[in-house]
Amino acid sequence: MTEEAKGGHPWSVDGFEQLTIARRSVRRFSDLPVSEHITRSALRSAHLAPSSNNLQPWEFHWVRPDSPHRASAVEACLSQPAAATSAELIFFIGRPDLLSDRAAAMVAHFEAAGNEGTASYYRDQVALNVQKMAPEDRNAWVDKSVALAAAQFMLAIKAAGFDSCPMEGLDPDMVRSLFGLPQEATVTMAVSVGEGIPEGLYGPRLRFPMADHLSEH
Ligand SMILES: Cc1cc2nc3c(=O)[nH]c(=O)nc-3n(C[C@H](O)[C@H](O)[C@H](O)COP(=O)(O)O)c2cc1C
Repeated sequence: MTEEAKGGHPWSVDGFEQLTIARRSVRRFSDLPVSEHITRSALRSAHLAPSSNNLQPWEFHWVRPDSPHRASAVEACLSQPAAATSAELIFFIGRPDLLSDRAAAMVAHFEAAGNEGTASYYRDQVALNVQKMAPEDRNAWVDKSVALAAAQFMLAIKAAGFDSCPMEGLDPDMVRSLFGLPQEATVTMAVSVGEGIPEGLYGPRLRFPMADHLSEH
């Protein structure tokens, strides 16, 4: 733990940074299976991602290794090696079409809890905002939160010693039809999981200098 770190918790900022350094997009995996426990735990971490207005606009479609849909799911990922050699494959889907229902569920939750202030916030502001957004804005809004869930998932997988690859090189219509999703559903990305093999790393870590990205005001 760094000297400056606030105490009273089991985490370490340096340890977390090491985890982010260790996570790479790995495109080829060994035959080693990933336990159900690990994938479920990583999915629970994904589910705890922050989301705009806490509407949790995501769905996780987990194609198990023995699923009859496995071959089609790999094909929907354009048969990328990262999908074809993976132990597990999870599709991170956004549901802009369900935002109104989720806002209504929040209203019901806060009404039941006797919190009329928050209930009216969801009823009068969130629900109306969601309704009046242009579809492309709504999709971008949803994808932001879904991507955060995918990021938490990938870090959790790395924390278990396994590797992952995010993929937007996929056929969204095929994914929607595979899972019976409506046309409005956004296919934010797929994430493949497994034990990476050295050939799965296509090059050294490459980032532009931090100075290109960070402005301090
Ligand atoms: C939204 C998104 C989509 C991506 N799609 C693909 C993909 O379809 N295939 C692939 O091999 N890598 C894909 N990547 C991985 C990136 O190429 C990778 O994150 C980038 O090169 C940086 O490498 P690193 O993740 O190892 O740091 C994707 C990454 C993100 C965030």
